[in-house]
Formats: sequence, C-alpha cells, structure tokens
Amino acid sequence: MATGYQFFHRHILDIGHLSADDIDHILNTAESLKEISDRSIKKVPTLRGKTIVNLFFEPSTRTRLSFEIAAKRMSGDTFNISASTSSATKGETLIDTARNIQAMRPDIIIMRHSFSGAPYMLTKYVDAAVINAGDGTHEHPSQALLDLMTVREHKGLLANLKVAIIGDIAHSRVAHSNISGFTKMGAQVFVHGPSTFIPVGLSQLGATVCSSLREAVQDADVVMTLRIQKERQNDPLLPSFREYAEQYGITSERASWAKPDALIMHPGPINRGIELMPDVADSSQSVILDQVTNGVAVRMALLYLVLSSEV
Ligand code: CP
Repeated sequence: MATGYQFFHRHILDIGHLSADDIDHILNTAESLKEISDRSIKKVPTLRGKTIVNLFFEPSTRTRLSFEIAAKRMSGDTFNISASTSSATKGETLIDTARNIQAMRPDIIIMRHSFSGAPYMLTKYVDAAVINAGDGTHEHPSQALLDLMTVREHKGLLANLKVAIIGDIAHSRVAHSNISGFTKMGAQVFVHGPSTFIPVGLSQLGATVCSSLREAVQDADVVMTLRIQKERQNDPLLPSFREYAEQYGITSERASWAKPDALIMHPGPINRGIELMPDVADSSQSVILDQVTNGVAVRMALLYLVLSSEV
C-alpha cells in the first residue's frame, strides 16, 4: 500500500470506484474488527451517537442483518425500513422518501433496490453516507468485499488465483462486483453458464468467458456458484431447473476438477440441488458460512471508514 495512503470514500456504491489499495485497506480494517464478534461482550463505542438507516426495497437475510449487527456491535443506532411497510406502497416516490429520511438527519443510509442506480440517485438527495447493499443487476460491493476477505483469509493472497464463477452472470450483481474486485486484486476470473446468462462485454471487465464448465472449473482455486435470479427475468431464459442442474450444477465430481484445496463459495441464498448440490455446499471445502461471518466484519469496516473518510 502506498505510503501516505488515505481512504477518501464518502459513499460505497460499487467496486469500480475503489482502488486495489482501498480494497486492501477495507480488508485489513475488517480483519482487525473481526475479533470483536468473538468477544463475550460484542460492543465497542466507535459509532456511538450515529444513526444508521437500513432502507431495503428488496428482501434480504444476510446483508440486512449483518449491516444491522455490524452497526450495533459498534454502538450505532439502527433503524430498518422495508418496502412492504414503507409509504412506497402508497405511491411515495424514491426522491420524496429520500428527502423525508434526510429530514431526520441519518449519518449512513444502506440501500437495497431493484432499480440499478438507485443508490447513486439517493446520494443526490441526502447528506448521509450511502452504501449500496445491492442495486438491481448492477453491483453488490459489500458482498464482493466479504468474498475477497474470505478468499484472502483462506489462501493468504488474491493475486494469480483462478476464480471460476458459474451460473447466471447476466442478472447477478454479485458476479459483476466480484469480477471487478477479483480482477482488480490480480486474480484471474473465468465464467461459464448458459449463453442466455452470459452478457456481452465481460472480457472488457477482465473476465474470460469459457465455452465449457470443465474449462472454467479445471484447476480453479475458487469455485463460486450463483443463484438463478428468477425475479429479474421478464421471460424464462431456461428450459427447466432440472436441465440447468444437469448441465451446470456443481456436483462433487465437477468440484473435483478444481484444485484439491479449492474453496467452494456461494453468496446465498442457495437453491440446493440446482446450482450447487447439498453435499458440495456442506463439504469441508465449502466456506459459505465463513462468507457470512466475514460479512459482519466487512460491514463494520465500511460503516467505520465512510464516517471517518475525509471527503
Ligand atoms: N448475499 C446476499 O445478498 O444475501 P441476502 O439477499 O440474504 O442479503
């Protein structure tokens, strides 16, 4: 990391705006904060007096809960708004919602929305720091950061690793953030899936599109499978889930094509038996629950860093 390095990010909207030094700094900060979650009293005063709003217009288990746990472990005051219980159901616009939340003076707003770009729009209407918790098919930066942390923790480094990402790349904000993050850190990303799930332009992002599952998984250090994003497809892009599982599902035999110590990853929620077979998801190579544990640490780091940023 360059000497005199400083973290200058008021908002965390995507991986593209973060440098490799920024990512290293976030992961180092997360590693130092991680032990707080192992204490008997899981609380430090870092965010005392700060108001953190979880503004989720789409369902979430891991991201919402881990941002809330992260804020509470640092003594922040957290408040949750979900679409189904907000005045969005009465027709209030996103801009009016933003202005009204701003009127209550939050310090950080964490936003998930089905519209790609919604968190960027939010930054125009609030003074609070904004963290993107997943916007449409675009990005999910905190997920990529926790994935990078998990791989670095297990492998000791990120550069020159072979990372295979399998499945619905086109609709996956996790895939887009991870391709950006892993390539930025010097890893090589190989993707494979049904052609209807592979968008054009992936090579410009630094990923290699493979014509076979074997080519993608062979000798990989990391095999990451993705859920099919049914909710983001206007028309069905698959003949059936059974055929998908037969052609693209990661079985133990297919996982064995990767290196013997390869990590099996999934951002969750898993469709067991479709993109990932249960014995592989629960195998000793699986780090899926480590990803979840590291999600709290990464989100603690992000909450701390955006409020201490000089910008
Ligand atoms: N990985 C992830 O974003 O999970 P949730 O949808 O449960 O937050």
